[in-house]
Amino acid sequence: MSDQCNHTHTFKAPLRRLRRLRTSEAMRAMVRENFISLDDLIHPIFIEEGITAPVEIRTLPGISRFPESMLAQEIKELQKLGVKYVMPFGISHHKDAIGSDTWNDEGLLARMVRTIKQTAPEMIVIPDICFCEYTDHGHCGVIEHIHDDVHVCNDATVENLVKQAICAAKAGADMLAPSAMMDGQIRAMRDGLDAAGYENVSILAHSAKFASAFYGPFREAVASELKGNRKGYQLDCADGRQAMVEALLDEEEGADILMVKPGTPYLDVLARLRDRTDLPLAAYHVGGEYASIKFAALAGALDERAVVTESFIGFKRAGASLIVSYYTKQFAEWLAADK
Ligand code: PBG
Ligand code: ZN
Repeated sequence: MSDQCNHTHTFKAPLRRLRRLRTSEAMRAMVRENFISLDDLIHPIFIEEGITAPVEIRTLPGISRFPESMLAQEIKELQKLGVKYVMPFGISHHKDAIGSDTWNDEGLLARMVRTIKQTAPEMIVIPDICFCEYTDHGHCGVIEHIHDDVHVCNDATVENLVKQAICAAKAGADMLAPSAMMDGQIRAMRDGLDAAGYENVSILAHSAKFASAFYGPFREAVASELKGNRKGYQLDCADGRQAMVEALLDEEEGADILMVKPGTPYLDVLARLRDRTDLPLAAYHVGGEYASIKFAALAGALDERAVVTESFIGFKRAGASLIVSYYTKQFAEWLAADK
């Protein structure tokens, strides 16, 4: 007789019976290595100025652009659900060539941060720090036309990023999430923040941000003006070692948390980075990852909650402490429904 069944066998008993620890839910829970809670999840939120009702985003079913006038109400709802961290993205109606609205103390970025902090002072506010939603050409910085090519000027953009960072800090941001992928941006922002007296405002660096087709739904979400691509500044999807160089340089430059983006197709990068730094790591489950699951779930092809949980657990297992995901609010609702 073998393992409680009535079948007989002729081969030697297994060297080790790993299934012993899988015999019941209680047993599996006893040895489980990774967990997801709202302590791990950052909720991105789209705020558009100059509109009066939420606009559903076609490419991200279930996600809307909120009018500024509804931001406080939405934040209260998120707080009630137990969401602890939010990442606001502004959809500007004051775009110009350089994205100057981002460092205007009365601009959309500053107003969003102030509204959130006033509504929920305990909520950690982590604005995206970039220009692409505020430039009339959709690139992540100052551009120059070289013949027929658009070139994003690194150092001029970094100058402006510092101004934006200080403006966001002044408005009350707890942490900044620079995503422009300019060289030297973390050091410049850190220096600028420190010099302005914001030593305690931390930096969640989009360190290994790949030029990805998974950003497609997001570009529609923020009504991006972009023509062309960001391959001149974001990482090539084929390059894992370049990603290590980028991320470790951000650590040296003073980043507090390093992020890999997108998440699912770059789990190798996350896992390799986990072995190279002791800083906390984050993964960005981007629009295309959300949409892939959401549309499949809407078609009845998969168990949405199970697939989302498995994706999140994958990030944790690979080494992330934090996950930015459009599923955060829904995840919080699922947890609330369990109680
Ligand atoms: C731009 C930015 C992007 C995202 C966040 N900030 C994408 C881009 O490079 O166009 C992507 C988020 C997503 O796809 O969900 N700085
Ligand atoms: Zn950008």
